[in-house]
Amino acid sequence: MTTLDIPELALVALVGVSGSGKSTFARRHFLPSQVLSSDMFRAMVADDENDQSASADAFEALHHVAGTRLRRGRLTVVDATNLQPHARAALIRVAREHDVLPVAIVLDVPEALAWERTRGRADRTFGRPVLARMQRDLRRSHGQLAREGFRKVHVLRGIEEIDAAEIRYEKLF
Ligand code: GTP
Ligand code: MG
Repeated sequence: MTTLDIPELALVALVGVSGSGKSTFARRHFLPSQVLSSDMFRAMVADDENDQSASADAFEALHHVAGTRLRRGRLTVVDATNLQPHARAALIRVAREHDVLPVAIVLDVPEALAWERTRGRADRTFGRPVLARMQRDLRRSHGQLAREGFRKVHVLRGIEEIDAAEIRYEKLF
């Protein structure tokens, strides 16, 4: 078992390519109401969770709700790829504004597995080069997360480690 220590009030960013299992992990370990997913917010603002033209509005809404939850002292999980430094910077900012610790959980699976999972999905229509670019962004992200401001960086490599992970909440006081 891999124990992931997380403060009981945190902003948790899941980080991983499409098909790495972020939404599955979020469903398994957190309450539905704790999880803010980019897909859900695209659907909310555009009636289509794949409408990439809605991303800016979707993330604005997501960050707003994340801020509201943190102000109310609720643990919040962001289910998005979070592969770009600017995407993560927005989350760090929301966490800091509310004096909440930002935590990253990185799901790192072999690209071939992510591709197998993704290409079978009707709602994921991008090609392999897009996944390869995500994988490059992920590799670059590894060394940067702590220095960007994430106070804990948990990296789960491969499906066994992801399967064996358990969350343990740390009391703040
Ligand atoms: P995006 O939303 O596209 O970024 O992908 P994601 O990272 O949220 O991946 P998701 O959790 O949707 O998983 C993709 C597919 O892989 C799904 O069809 C899952 O059923 C499958 N999958 C994810 N995690 C696991 C796992 O731990 N075990 C098995 N067997 N299948 C998994
Ligand atoms: Mg997902």
